[in-house]
Amino acid sequence: MNKIHSVCCALLFALCAPCAAHAESADMVREQCAGCHSIEKPDYAAAGVIERGARKAPPLHYAGNKFRAEWLEEWLQEPERIRPAGVVPAAHVKPSADGDLIDPASFTEHPALSADDAKSVTQFLMTLRPFDERIAAQTYQPGAIALRMGQMNFGKFKGCNGCHRDAPAEGGVSGPELYTAWKRLQPAFMASVIADPLAWDAHTIMPSAGLNDNEVHKLVNYLKALQEPQP
Ligand code: HEC
Ligand code: HEC
Repeated sequence: MNKIHSVCCALLFALCAPCAAHAESADMVREQCAGCHSIEKPDYAAAGVIERGARKAPPLHYAGNKFRAEWLEEWLQEPERIRPAGVVPAAHVKPSADGDLIDPASFTEHPALSADDAKSVTQFLMTLRPFDERIAAQTYQPGAIALRMGQMNFGKFKGCNGCHRDAPAEGGVSGPELYTAWKRLQPAFMASVIADPLAWDAHTIMPSAGLNDNEVHKLVNYLKALQEPQP
């Protein structure tokens, strides 16, 4: 091999190896994940509102605008439940004399990936970013809030605790737990979804609370404070 040839090969390899790895992880996600998760935006209008109740898993088609990559890579290796009552609570809740109870036997374990697969799948998922502009339009800057104030606001004043937990076993179960939100989610995503949940998911069961930027930012600061308590 002459020198020019080997330089060309090295260059081609450097350019192509990441593309090949990307294509491979895209195939893997299509084969192993897309049966439950949307990896392309569904045609919500054509599917009708029944789409939400038939959902097997949360949407992943905007994963790159939503998750923190470090969290994603770790979670894919050791997945733990995020929604106490699953994606469609009605499928996991049994009525009892003491009120509705979550039936642990109704859940199946989430597939876990090897460290290598988790890394490449994370890299692929982080490229799914259809809402970059919406994220860029967010003005949230992390700030401090007293935990007690934040808690009253989240509960009594804004009613978020009707559906979300702000501590293990504290709060509602129909939405994702939020005491881990700061670790899982990009701050601008949280601000955007609290301000306008329907923009992210046309069939979400989270109502729009009609909050202004200041109110939204206070709530995100509370989610931050839950993860990183101030002294
Ligand atoms: C049998 C259906 C099923 C398959 C297959 C599946 N998932 Fe999931 N996934 C779920 C469910 C259900 C949840 C919700 C878990 C929870 O919130 O407690 C979930 C949650 C997730 C989450 C967190 C999403 C969020 O918004 O909180 C990620 C990320 C994820 N899955 C990635 C994957 C990847 C990557 C694959 C393929 C390697 C995969 N899943 C395969 C059912 C599935
Ligand atoms: C009626 C129930 C309900 C109420 C009230 C509600 N949410 Fe939600 N929220 C949800 C559900 C359910 C989701 C996930 C989207 C879905 O499955 O439709 C969600 C998603 C979120 C997310 C994204 C979390 C993730 O992991 O995807 C954040 C952040 C959030 N809500 C914050 C709030 C805040 C702050 C309030 C109070 C202003 C609030 N929510 C009020 C049900 C609710």
